[in-house]
Amino acid sequence: MAKTMRVGILTAGGDSPGLNAAIRGVGKAALGYYGMEVVGFRDGFRGLAENRTMPLDKATLGGILTVGGTILGTSRDKPHRMEINGQTRDMTQAIVNNCRTNGLDVLVCLGGGGTQRNALRLVKAGLPVVTLPKTIDNDVALTDATFGFDTAMGIATEAIDRLHSTAHSHHRIVVTEIMGHQAGWLALGAGIAGGADVILIPEIPYEVGRIAEAIRERSRQGSNFSIVAVAEGAMSGVDWHARQAAARKRAGAQTDTDRQAARLELETLDARHEGNTIRLARQLEELTGLESRVTILGYVQRGGIPSPADRLLATRLGTACAELIARGVFGVMVAARGDSAEPVPIQEVAGKVKTVPLDHPWVESARRVGTCLGDQ
Ligand code: F6P
Repeated sequence: MAKTMRVGILTAGGDSPGLNAAIRGVGKAALGYYGMEVVGFRDGFRGLAENRTMPLDKATLGGILTVGGTILGTSRDKPHRMEINGQTRDMTQAIVNNCRTNGLDVLVCLGGGGTQRNALRLVKAGLPVVTLPKTIDNDVALTDATFGFDTAMGIATEAIDRLHSTAHSHHRIVVTEIMGHQAGWLALGAGIAGGADVILIPEIPYEVGRIAEAIRERSRQGSNFSIVAVAEGAMSGVDWHARQAAARKRAGAQTDTDRQAARLELETLDARHEGNTIRLARQLEELTGLESRVTILGYVQRGGIPSPADRLLATRLGTACAELIARGVFGVMVAARGDSAEPVPIQEVAGKVKTVPLDHPWVESARRVGTCLGDQ
C-alpha cells in the first residue's frame, strides 16, 4: 500500500487577509480529497526551527475561511539568520531535521517576497517545498495576484471615501499613507478607486512643487480640499536619486568596507524616509495655504475578514497546491494565471519584486481622469 503523504504548512512574513482561507484550501483538499495528513508549524520558520507544531485536522480547519490573521501565527524570522537566545544562528539544518522528524513529504510556505527567498534556501538545502503568494502589497513576481491585496485595497478605498468627508467639510488637504513596501499597487489601486486627487507611488518620484500646483489649481476651480494617497515607499526625486546612487554603490562594492559603508548609507536614507508623509503634509500646507492633516492607515489594511475575491483566490491556489503535491511537483510557487493556477519555479520568483510598470493601464487611467501623480 502506498504511504500516506504528510504535508507541513507554515505562514511567514506579515499577516494578511486570506491566509486562513489558504490554509483551509490546502488542508481540506489534502485531507479530504487526496487522503493526506497535514501538520501546521507555528510562527513561520521560527516555529519550524523550534519544532512547534499544531494539528491541522477537520476540526481546526473548520470555521476559519472568514477569519483574519493566521491561526498558525507568523514571524519575519529567516531560516539562515535567526535570533536564538540572543545569538544569531543559521537554523537551516535544524529545519531540515525537523521536517524529517515530522515525516514530511513536503513543506508548504505561505508568504510574500521574503518567504519566497527563504523557501528557496530550503529548496537548496534539499527540502521539497511548495509556496503560495500572499501579501497585501501585490508585489510577488510571476503571479497575476497575491491574496490579501484585494481586501487591503478595499479597506484603503473605504478609508479614502471616509476621509473625503473631513477634507471637504474643513477645506483641508488630507494626506493618507498607504502600505505597499517598495511597490505602489495598493496606493494606486485604492487611490483610483477612492478618487484621490493626488496619488504618489514609489515607481514615480515626485516633485512637491508639482503636487502643490495641482492642489492650487483645484482650489482655483472651486475645490478647496484635496486627498493625497501616498504609498509608504513613495519619495521625492531628490531622495529617489540619492537612494539609487546608494543602491548602485552597494551592488558594485568590491570590499567588505565599501559594502558596509554603502549599507550604512542606505540605512540612513531609509531612516530619514520615516516621517516622510508628515513632512510632505507640512510642505503642502506651506505651499498651498490649505490646512493639512495626515492619516496613516497602517495595520488596519491587513486586518479583519478577507474579501470574497481573496477567499476565492486563496481557495483556488490552496487546492491547486494540494493537487501539485499529489502529483509530486515540488520546488514551485502556485501562481495565479487568469482563472487557473500554474506552478512556477521558486528559483525564478525569489529575489524579484513586481513593481508597477510606468506604462501600466492603471497609471494611464489615473492620468486620464486628471489625477496628479506628482511628476507633471
Ligand atoms: O508586506 C506587508 C507589509 O504590510 C508592507 O506593506 C509593509 O511595508 C510591511 O509589511 C510592514 O511590516 P511589519 O509587519 O514588520 O510592520
